[in-house]
Amino acid sequence: MSFIHLQNISKQFPNGNQLAVNEVNLAIEQGEIITLLGPSGCGKTTMLRMIAGFEIPSHGAILINGQYVYNNKENIPPEKRGIGMVFQDYALFPHLTIEKNVAFGLNKWKIFEKKQRVKEVLELVGLLEYAKRYPSELSGGQQQRVALARALAPKPHVVLMDEPFSNLDAGLREKMRYDVTAILRKANTTAIIVTHDQKDAFAVSDRVVVMNQGIIQQIASPREMYRCPKNCFVAQFLGKTNLLQGKICPDMKHVDTYIGRISLSNQLSEVIDNVQISIRPEGCLLVEDGYYSGRVSKVTYSGEYQELEVVLGNESALNETMILYAPVEQEIELDANISFNIKPESVALVEA
Ligand SMILES: Nc1ncnc2c1ncn2[C@@H]1O[C@H](COP(=O)(O)OP(=O)(O)OP(=O)(O)O)[C@@H](O)[C@H]1O
Ligand SMILES: [Mg+2]
Repeated sequence: MSFIHLQNISKQFPNGNQLAVNEVNLAIEQGEIITLLGPSGCGKTTMLRMIAGFEIPSHGAILINGQYVYNNKENIPPEKRGIGMVFQDYALFPHLTIEKNVAFGLNKWKIFEKKQRVKEVLELVGLLEYAKRYPSELSGGQQQRVALARALAPKPHVVLMDEPFSNLDAGLREKMRYDVTAILRKANTTAIIVTHDQKDAFAVSDRVVVMNQGIIQQIASPREMYRCPKNCFVAQFLGKTNLLQGKICPDMKHVDTYIGRISLSNQLSEVIDNVQISIRPEGCLLVEDGYYSGRVSKVTYSGEYQELEVVLGNESALNETMILYAPVEQEIELDANISFNIKPESVALVEA
């Protein structure tokens, strides 16, 4: 039995014209860090709020630690679900010191134990020396760690975080991804983190749940998700990719497309008539006498690499383009003819 289990969860808002969350099934193990990733409006916050008990599902059941917290007979209130919540704006009490903020959820604890626990979690987030300060006297990243300490203090079954990194600038964001994951791991807490940023999701999670329009598109580890996106939506949502139509060859190891024959990294076990393939730009390597060729129609310098738009194909497929990455040292002129090879590991079959 999984630690947290969402069973056929749906949510229809009274004034909404489609389901905000549509028949979601999700099983989470104890100690796992999961991210809900998807575009704006896909239902991430609604899912989190239903798990927390702030929103009532229209349908389905939710178990936390083996107990129903919601089904058609039961609706356990948020404060009794054993959840710790970290809000996007941290929601710290400005008139309370850091230690009092952290002690807030421990009002039923004995005084000595409460003191001990506050010390313990402030130590865990590296802010013990800031205990007597007020939130306004801390930086954004420090405030976020206080919010996390407050959520962890009552030893919840699960910590829920909605867009925890969105208020932070790029540098701090990277550091907090690392810090938050380290703190959650040390506390051995199960966590569900909402984000619309692929980098956040990949950096912090054991498994990523990609959603679109209230429906789970794929659940996988970051590596597996990037390498084998299930469908076009996931492939395109997780970084740049090239989607091509193709036909599988009889040897089941290649796909014929308008740019030529493309090798797959694994032999397929079943025949699929018309397929789509996703080719990651970093899997296209510029070489002399490469198997594929085209004309450079756009060069965008990004610092770490240059992104090339390349027009390929024959007469019947004019103006089809692909995105390739080239090393910055390489001088590439607009309209130059280039050739390249494709690494089979960067090719994935995807559903439409
Ligand atoms: N209280 C509400 N009443 C009616 N519709 C709502 C309500 N809350 C959310 N919705 C709708 O439900 C859908 C999902 O919203 P939700 O807030 O869960 O999206 P999200 O994935 O968190 O998006 P974002 O990344 O922008 O925060 C949206 O279409 C939204 O307009
Ligand atoms: Mg949201």
